[in-house]
Amino acid sequence: MGKVHNIAVIPGDGTGPEVVAEGIKVLNAVSKKLGFTLKYNEYDLGGERYMRTGETLPDSILTELKQYDAIYLGAIGHPDVKPGILEKEILLRTRFELDQYINLRPVKLYEGVETPLKNKGPEEIDFVVVRENTEGLYAGAGGVLKKGTKDEVAIQESINTRKGVERCIRFAFEYTQKRNKDRKLTLCGKTNVLTYAFNLWERTFYEVAKEYPDIKTEYVHVDATCMWMVKNPEWFDVIVTDNMFGDIITDLGAMIQGGMGIACGGNINPTGVSMFEPIGGSAPKYTGKNVINPLAAILAGAMMLEFINEKKGADIIEKAVQKAVKEKIKSLDAGKMGMGTKEVGDLIVKYVNK
Ligand code: IPM
Ligand code: MN
Repeated sequence: MGKVHNIAVIPGDGTGPEVVAEGIKVLNAVSKKLGFTLKYNEYDLGGERYMRTGETLPDSILTELKQYDAIYLGAIGHPDVKPGILEKEILLRTRFELDQYINLRPVKLYEGVETPLKNKGPEEIDFVVVRENTEGLYAGAGGVLKKGTKDEVAIQESINTRKGVERCIRFAFEYTQKRNKDRKLTLCGKTNVLTYAFNLWERTFYEVAKEYPDIKTEYVHVDATCMWMVKNPEWFDVIVTDNMFGDIITDLGAMIQGGMGIACGGNINPTGVSMFEPIGGSAPKYTGKNVINPLAAILAGAMMLEFINEKKGADIIEKAVQKAVKEKIKSLDAGKMGMGTKEVGDLIVKYVNK
């Protein structure tokens, strides 16, 4: 008998439930094949619940979420809810309260997938961003004075703690070592302007680097990082950066790997409960039409398996996705795949079972 893993599922808003359904279909095929069990418990969280009850993330659910082996998330964000409420009170609160201090986002171009970058292919586009996930500008520090007057003052501070920075950097070094590709870690920051925050990052980076003499290190400013991601993405192996810069560069990353249809991420607490998600959002205009691409959610499922020690299952899913995009799926964009959301899920299941 294989192991039993308890998974909290948050389908969420918009196309979230559709892509999560395909992800679960694939996960079930893999667990059946390898003989382990995934037990799911679904949570109704998101815009609909908020509009119905006024609740975003009740404390009792947050407490329950801490008991699982992992959380599988679809998307949070509703067109009828003012931006910021659901994001802050569900997504960010879960990241913070479960101390998921790493946001791990692979940027990998699969064979057969179109990238907007001229003359670049799977050989050149294959790196991972380690984004700090609990501090920086996201910490919510700051305030407003004289709101609505012409003297209004808005302050939004970036919080960087030695502990938070160091644990993120340490994770990145460990990850670079384990990944074992170019064994190179790039710190992405802005030491020339953000002289307090990124001085802490830079000092910590080079201090921790001494413990990893086998890992090459380099520092690149965030603006130059954007430039190189487009011009020479092959220079990157693993990038470590703060929360805000990580948010921005991973959207750029998603585009060069073929779009939001395939970009996944993990909110990782290496000693606690981690949460895995497609990074594309709720895509309201595609909801319920069977046109959204479920591959990002399916790959998020693979990432989840890796982190609950079912690496073999993760590899099976990744290979199936690779085969599907190379041989069958026309485009990764919603509505242009040459098949529907459910059919993509079925195809991956078919390849998993082969
Ligand atoms: C992401 C998203 C979130 C973020 C939003 C929805 C709060 O853009 O996961 O990258 O900024 O972290
Ligand atoms: Mn983002």
